[in-house]
Amino acid sequence: MTNFSVSYIRDLLAFHVEAGVDVALGDAPVNRFAAAAAARAAKPAEAPPVRPASSASSSLAPSPLVPPRPAAPRAVPSVAPSPVMAAQPPDEAVMAAREAARAAGSLDELRAILDAFEGCPLKRTATRLVFADGKPEARVMFVGEAPGRDEDAQGLPFVGRSGRLLDLMMGAIGLDRTSAYIANVIPWRPPGNRTPTPQETAICLPFIRRQIELADPDILICLGNPSAQTLLGITEGITKTRGRFFSYDTGKRTIRAMPTFHPAYLLRTPLGKRLVWRDLLEVEAALGEAKT
Ligand code: URA
Repeated sequence: MTNFSVSYIRDLLAFHVEAGVDVALGDAPVNRFAAAAAARAAKPAEAPPVRPASSASSSLAPSPLVPPRPAAPRAVPSVAPSPVMAAQPPDEAVMAAREAARAAGSLDELRAILDAFEGCPLKRTATRLVFADGKPEARVMFVGEAPGRDEDAQGLPFVGRSGRLLDLMMGAIGLDRTSAYIANVIPWRPPGNRTPTPQETAICLPFIRRQIELADPDILICLGNPSAQTLLGITEGITKTRGRFFSYDTGKRTIRAMPTFHPAYLLRTPLGKRLVWRDLLEVEAALGEAKT
């Protein structure tokens, strides 16, 4: 084995982390290039085109008397299927997700159903399901985008740097994790914190919608653009939508939903905090009004 210097290995690891490759998916490395090459080598050569039996025939169409040559059986490559190869077609996965989410009669059942659900490829790369934190019966529910590294490690939403800021945001209107409920649109960490694909979001959407329906909050706070656009079905960006109340149909009733900036954005853009402060005061005032 080649001996690499410590500084070379450190630089290589830093390069991977910066590229978002910061989780190990297995105990041993897998050479995906070798697996693909083996699959190509195992594939039989193209069968020659079938010619009509009679050379006298001038027709280019195969003679009906010549039975079509049966397709050569495809050799099954002897490589372990990668998680991506085993993925269910997205449409089927969305339908399966809708059916599974509908079957949940309580939040505990929904968590168990999600934990057993195999239709979302993100489950295979995440360490664990990140379902929710806080008080399920709370009047306010916060929904973020997707768990990050800390959340994936602990199995709870918003426990990293953004989470600490979310705690402060909640505290500004007298809420904390014993009096508010917190979840994400996507309950599994996307590898390297990449943006979830539209298919992954579509697969997870029935579950978060059912989670909101079962939690039945009076006010939903969408943290960041992906959460607001996905849950409220809007296309306008967060700078236009934040601070406004939208109607959200939980399936049981219509509640108010407020998009606001995501705490991760506020960590990068602290000037946005005063706007979020205003948004939260609106929420506090709405909570003081008669219960919906
Ligand atoms: N960002 C999110 O959107 N959700 C989390 O749980 C953590 C960070």
